[in-house]
Amino acid sequence: MADARPFHWEFRPEPVAREIFRIEGGRPLSGSVRVSGSKNAALKLLAAAILTGERCRFSNVPEIEDVRVMAETLRDIGVVVDHPEKNIYEVASGDVEWLFVPLEAAAKMRASFMLLGPLLARFGRVIISNPGGDRIGRRPVNLHVDAMRALGAEIEYRNGYYFARAPGRLRGAELRFPIVTVMGTENAMLAATLADGHTVIRPAAQEPEVDDLLGFLQKMGAEIERTYPDTIEVEGRKRLRGADHRVLSDRIEAGTFMIAGAVTGGRVTLEEAPCDHLEAFVEVLQRAGVEVACDHTIIEVDGRGMDESLRACDIETAPYPGLATDLQSPACVLLSQARGTSRVHETVFEDRLEWLAELGRMGANVRLIDDHHAEITGPRRLHGAEVEIGDLRAGASLILAALAAKGTSTILGAHHVHRGYENIDGKFLELGARIERVAEGTVTTSP
Ligand code: UD1
Repeated sequence: MADARPFHWEFRPEPVAREIFRIEGGRPLSGSVRVSGSKNAALKLLAAAILTGERCRFSNVPEIEDVRVMAETLRDIGVVVDHPEKNIYEVASGDVEWLFVPLEAAAKMRASFMLLGPLLARFGRVIISNPGGDRIGRRPVNLHVDAMRALGAEIEYRNGYYFARAPGRLRGAELRFPIVTVMGTENAMLAATLADGHTVIRPAAQEPEVDDLLGFLQKMGAEIERTYPDTIEVEGRKRLRGADHRVLSDRIEAGTFMIAGAVTGGRVTLEEAPCDHLEAFVEVLQRAGVEVACDHTIIEVDGRGMDESLRACDIETAPYPGLATDLQSPACVLLSQARGTSRVHETVFEDRLEWLAELGRMGANVRLIDDHHAEITGPRRLHGAEVEIGDLRAGASLILAALAAKGTSTILGAHHVHRGYENIDGKFLELGARIERVAEGTVTTSP
């Protein structure tokens, strides 16, 4: 049935094409910021809504470009996606007309591949493009495809597209991933909820966003449970129902603002912060000598008078509950201000340290050892520079560096940051930052 609602609140996120951040740094940031809903949870929840023809309603959805792209992609295949007010999305996928996810959608966002599992499970077929996303290493999708094949799907790869079919229903299976994969786990979960029989997923990613998705699937009537920390079991059902869900808070956004407080020597309070999901990160901050207070949903970082006491510490990223790879780059900004040499080991992605070259252009003393290792020696006073954002998380970290730096910075590639952070410049402005977003070509760059 087509949507009968009388209105559709047409959301236009901040313009994203070819913009620049211009930041005058060196001012302590102080005040409170509300943490938005999690990007990495919201995108999968929207995908999960196509497991049922009934309406699903999501609140606390971040107003970001990736969510807008996911909503457009769903609309393109015939799903009704309403956005009745800010941060609320409603999805009804009674009529899915096109079981086809084109390159145009996939190239914008890797999470478009999250449509493979649910479309296959509910409609028995889909043609889906190889996904795009951040420029951080190869980022293949072989493990998603292997999982679907293990669940009984037939999948061929031709000309950049996966042609997937599930003759009859998918069948429950024992899935063994060779490494921990977040979206691989989530795609398998979504597919297994409508498969025939029992599925065991091991090792299942333990990221909080995976459990947020799991909770939503339970509300939809799915028989799914985390039976051990690294194991999820699913008993497939014939159909699921619509449900409402509030997206959990974004731990990566929270971590980014925590660093802003620390490196600008200010005092930042985060509201609706997911304290429980930031343990490994808080531990890094504390080892570096940053004062952090966490109380349920409030986090306070006091960086005043701290520049002398920051000390180097080694960090290593890992799947949850380890230090999130998405928080590696903000942590590196902090380490550039700490006394001594810190070793950085990025274990999850290759090439996720490349952005450190840009941090170096702002005066940080960084040494890239190989694709997975770097050293940062501090403290070095950062200075304004013209730098370019290559991916989402590195982009937010260059903003942090520019806020801490003396002088004015010009940061190219602002659209990468809008993919994943709601109103990031507005939030920094509220904390007293001097940050503006201007169209490319309208600024003279700093020396
Ligand atoms: C998700 C997050 C991303 C985060 C990452 C790790 C979303 C939208 N993105 O990405 O922000 O940085 O988890 O926490 O939720 N791999 C394969 N084959 C596959 C899939 C993954 O080899 O089919 C490899 C990857 O290249 C990487 C590792 O597995 O080296 C982990 O990646 P994965 O956990 O799958 O990351 P994403 O789910 O893509």
